Amino acid sequence: MHVSDFVAGLPKAELHMHIEGSIEPERFIELARRNGVAIRWQSVEELRAAYHFENLQDFLDLYYDGCRVLQTAQDFHDVTRDYLRRAHADRVLHAELFLGPQGHTSRGVPIASVMEGVLGAMEAARDEDGITSGLIPVVQRHRSEEESLVMLDALQPWHGRLLGFGLGGAEVGNPPAKFAEFFRRCRALGFKVVAHAGEEGPAAYVREALDLLRVDRLDHGNACVDDPALVAALADSRIPLTLCPLSNLKLQVVDSLAAHPLKRLLQAGLCVTVNSDDPSYFGGYVNDNYRACDEALDLGREGLAQLARNSFEAAFMPDAQRRAALAAVDDWVARASRRAVH
Ligand code: ADE
Ligand code: ZN
Repeated sequence: MHVSDFVAGLPKAELHMHIEGSIEPERFIELARRNGVAIRWQSVEELRAAYHFENLQDFLDLYYDGCRVLQTAQDFHDVTRDYLRRAHADRVLHAELFLGPQGHTSRGVPIASVMEGVLGAMEAARDEDGITSGLIPVVQRHRSEEESLVMLDALQPWHGRLLGFGLGGAEVGNPPAKFAEFFRRCRALGFKVVAHAGEEGPAAYVREALDLLRVDRLDHGNACVDDPALVAALADSRIPLTLCPLSNLKLQVVDSLAAHPLKRLLQAGLCVTVNSDDPSYFGGYVNDNYRACDEALDLGREGLAQLARNSFEAAFMPDAQRRAALAAVDDWVARASRRAVH
């Protein structure tokens, strides 16, 4: 079995993707037309050609601007359903989705349109394809903590249908400490909490996310490699890192995939996972990320299987479902080993 087929059939969870970052160019143009939203690009080719980024902010400018095509509950339903269909095709059994409500309410979109559209599509995907998913709203770190608390309150009608809360957006200059009270409240309400840290920011931000925000999982976390004691603590605690290798390459967080810290961290015993972040902007879904990493870092089937196991260890899912998913990984590895490998 070719490694590409091994990855295709490997059961996995995806734990770091932004719904707004998964709008494919065809859908983007259709939504712009449907809603009468003026956009700078007239074709799928022009759109794809625009996806070159110098850094995170460069990307975020385009990404937030792109959100303008999302107007109605149906729009949010369609893009969420598109992603979950694509993830199911990559043998993602379970996905945890980021959504940035402030990027929509600040444009005058009612929060109910956003939430009902997304949550309805998640239910449809479970019923039609059997893929389970959970929703994690992320607050934007360039905004004030006060605004994040307003968002937490605005989401109150849907609290029972959320997995947790997260923190995303422009990292440098907006340290985790800025959101200490927001995270304290989320935890007090019983939510899981995650935060982007150490993508462009330093190892000190990763430490802050752990010690001050007390996150259950770190999004990216790459910068931990600069602090050996932190790497040792992460190996010990098994607090997961949701790495996004193709995203890191496109946003110039790493110079090449061969230089990505994924393999070093995996070998050091950390619970690292591989994810797509914003698949339509970064040129790859989760399986593309697994394959590209294998090619650049020579992970082999054992390494790839470990990443899939880690994804279920790191998922916010019931233990019975976790055990079944881990058994499905073992099954696939056993089945693949009975066939010739190229
Ligand atoms: N929002 C969407 N993608 C992001 C990323 N890679 N980093 C921070 N915020 C984001
Ligand atoms: Zn992200």
